[in-house]
Amino acid sequence: MKFFIDTANLAQIKEANELGILDGVTTNPSLMAKEGIKGEAAVMQHYKTICDMVDGDISAEVISTDFDGMIAEGKKLVQIHKNIVVKVPMIKDGIKAIKWFTDNGIRTNCTLVFSAGQAILAAKAGASYVSPFIGRIDDSGWDGMELIHQLRQIYSIQGYKTEILAASIRNPNHIIKCAEAGADVCTCPLDSILGLLKHPLTDIGLAKFLEDAKKFA
Ligand code: G3P
Repeated sequence: MKFFIDTANLAQIKEANELGILDGVTTNPSLMAKEGIKGEAAVMQHYKTICDMVDGDISAEVISTDFDGMIAEGKKLVQIHKNIVVKVPMIKDGIKAIKWFTDNGIRTNCTLVFSAGQAILAAKAGASYVSPFIGRIDDSGWDGMELIHQLRQIYSIQGYKTEILAASIRNPNHIIKCAEAGADVCTCPLDSILGLLKHPLTDIGLAKFLEDAKKFA
């Protein structure tokens, strides 16, 4: 399973990248706004900076909701860097746009996916990635991980090439469960990635080793 970080925060991207396990970055308009980025030129520059920091796929989301607008935005975004993947919302014009991008050699990430039906359409349109939002499904009282299992089964049976990119990750256990369910990619906040490091027995064991090491130092 590939690890992406789900943020537009450069310090967090740097910290995750320095671990040496980072395969890419996903952003969205909310994450970009959180960094206080304003205006098209600043947005484009921010994506460029991320692409220069991380050697992997970088998802940049369109904000248009009509076919022509999404195509125009996507064409500009892919000029930034070869690693840009155009993130497109799961709406009717979004599916048309994904098909157009696919036919024109532009890679896409279909976002805001909450059902198997939506994920089937994204795969049929040729999306490179599909982003099921598991945390938001959990927040609504359903089980987001069930969707990951269902998509893995459907995509494997049907031979769809679209990669399942589990998004809206809330904690380290989500990451473990995604790996178990066969997600191709998990895009996570930095805290959830760092949470994987932690175990109290590791801390206790290390303290003991360091104490014993003083006996022969
Ligand atoms: O980038 C899409 C997704 O990961 C959003 O997560 O935490 O806003 O539900 P969240």
